Amino acid sequence: MPDSAPAPARYAHLFSSLDLGPLRLKSRVMMPPHFSAIGNLWGSEADAARTLAYLEERAAAGVAWVTITGRVGNHFIPGFEPSGLSAETLGFFRLPQFAERSRLVTERLAAHETHVLIQMTMIGGYPNAPSEVLSNPVANAHPHVMTPRDIDAIVEEYRHSARMVAETPLAGVEMHFNHDDLVEQFLSPLTNTRTDDYGGSFENRLRFARRLLAAVREELPGRVVGIRLNAFEEMPGGYDAEEGIRIAAALSETGVDYVSVVVGSHWGSPSYIQPQQYDPGQWSACAGAIRQAVTVPVVYTGLVDHPDLAEGILARGDADVVGMARAQVADGQLLARAREGKTDLIRPCIAANDCINRRYVDGLPFGCAVNPMAAKELEGPIPKAVLPRELLVVGGGPAGMELAALAAESGHRVRLWEAASELGGQLRIATRAPRYERLARFLDWQTARLERLGVEVTLNRRAEADDLLAPEVVAIATGAAGRRPPVPGAEAALEARDILNGTVTPGRRVLVVAEEDHMQPLALADHLATRGHEVVLVYGTNTPAILLGRYSIGGPLARLDEMGVEIRAMEKVTTIGPDWVETMQIYSKRRTRLDGFDSIALACGGRSDSALYDALSERRGDVHLLGDAFAPRRMVFATRQAYALARILAA
Ligand SMILES: Cc1cc2nc3c(=O)[nH]c(=O)nc-3n(C[C@H](O)[C@H](O)[C@H](O)COP(=O)(O)O)c2cc1C
Ligand code: SF4
Repeated sequence: MPDSAPAPARYAHLFSSLDLGPLRLKSRVMMPPHFSAIGNLWGSEADAARTLAYLEERAAAGVAWVTITGRVGNHFIPGFEPSGLSAETLGFFRLPQFAERSRLVTERLAAHETHVLIQMTMIGGYPNAPSEVLSNPVANAHPHVMTPRDIDAIVEEYRHSARMVAETPLAGVEMHFNHDDLVEQFLSPLTNTRTDDYGGSFENRLRFARRLLAAVREELPGRVVGIRLNAFEEMPGGYDAEEGIRIAAALSETGVDYVSVVVGSHWGSPSYIQPQQYDPGQWSACAGAIRQAVTVPVVYTGLVDHPDLAEGILARGDADVVGMARAQVADGQLLARAREGKTDLIRPCIAANDCINRRYVDGLPFGCAVNPMAAKELEGPIPKAVLPRELLVVGGGPAGMELAALAAESGHRVRLWEAASELGGQLRIATRAPRYERLARFLDWQTARLERLGVEVTLNRRAEADDLLAPEVVAIATGAAGRRPPVPGAEAALEARDILNGTVTPGRRVLVVAEEDHMQPLALADHLATRGHEVVLVYGTNTPAILLGRYSIGGPLARLDEMGVEIRAMEKVTTIGPDWVETMQIYSKRRTRLDGFDSIALACGGRSDSALYDALSERRGDVHLLGDAFAPRRMVFATRQAYALARILAA
């Protein structure tokens, strides 16, 4: 369908209705669970209010149903302290506020004809598991192997949880049989090595899931009961796509109302929150194959990042409904914009996973890299400035662009000066690395937004302090220069940005000094390896990319391994020669010389460029510093700082 086609024709499938069990869906888009990072619906009143506002905006935009997270209580010996991913003792269904909050979310979303289901989740291995074998080699959890009595107790806990749901107006439940859930571990021939009635044959491996489904169905007559399944397991010995189809077909015959298909684990490649290294909607054909084998509606979720892609998946018959999580974090109005034919306004998700990594790696509150207003729906859009003023933003990287746009939205007259010939700063450079197309799309979107808002952008304009005395307000977002570590020889090494920009070309065998904890060294290695270079990455840290998090690291590391990139850790580079480096083992202090390289490259992060701010703040007031110019960090920090400053400038 051409880009110019009117919305109803272009999205004929997306906005059609569907019967799902007893429910009538208003569209073919649902929101799968991801709100646990945004706020806790079961937590404080404030937390619940924030989550509800987040959900409501997306419901009003057109989401047919949302599935909220619901962890089932576990069973341990007295005093056992569970730890690990989603380790849970009590569970959500036994919380005193469960009924009240369930009623609240159901009623609030019903106002938008959006239904609410709750997931029944129990991550396996912490410590309960069918057998001693776990699929996850990145953490050495040693489980408690469940006895038949343990199994009975868990079935009863699911039954009790379903009974709790029956006392609420929730539309039903989704059984979480995916993402290394305890139930997936029973389904899998890799992690289920039991020799009793719950292990061995295909039927035996399904027995636990069948018992749970029967118990839940009994307690919830007339409500929706769906299942979420991993289409195939990535680890050798796990079930493959063919067996995934058999599992879906067998379980769907037990009276379930839909099958939701996902791919990935909580640690691997792909992870279930697939980062940018994967293709949009990469496994929708797996859902299509399952759809052929079942008689109930099928949902597909996984990097469905645009209404066009969603429409294609539906039109091809790969799914009856698509799940879109991060795409709707990045833009809560995604569906409304699609319906109105304004898809060019959709703020694109870059799939770098800060929405989950900030919370689980940095220990920070939720934040989206491209949408600083996500999870701030209660605060509303950026307010109109009490006193509209003239703002000059110096630096057109992620911080400067976002500030310029937000300030213009709040009514200031905004100019933006950028020293380079293109907007984007370091993001623009990063787009030269493989699998960074999404960043380029985001920059295009941000550039178009500035244009729409009438921000006067001047490229190739390097500011001097004298130029910056006249504007009423000045914001300095001059970013960071490439950092050279303070070791002998670093000044002669090649710098990542010059390599990515193509201004220098390394020789065939390249050693990369990695002193940045996120994507920079990995992206540089990918760029070089893709071009046929032999690459060795040398980290001083215990492992590579410690800020990347379990959901993001598998994708890039799988790519690098496939291209033969060598990664060394715990080796701090102490001296750099023309074709060698000396390293020191960080704990034993043992020295090693690594030689035989054609080039030494630095991927050592940034060094703040705040010179302009320092010079200016002596000479005038109302000058502000933001982004990497203050301290080099990730894009999500830059856009959030821009948002915070824009609110101050509006007050
Ligand atoms: C912050 C966050 C929390 C999530 N929590 C859950 C969860 O509790 N249960 C679940 O089945 N999936 C969970 N997911 C996975 C999503 O439901 C979805 O399958 C995944 O994000 C891929 O879809 P997307 O590409 O549309 O984001 C979570 C995802 C995110 C980003
Ligand atoms: S934080 Fe990143 S991955 Fe998550 S929704 Fe925002 S742009 Fe997408």
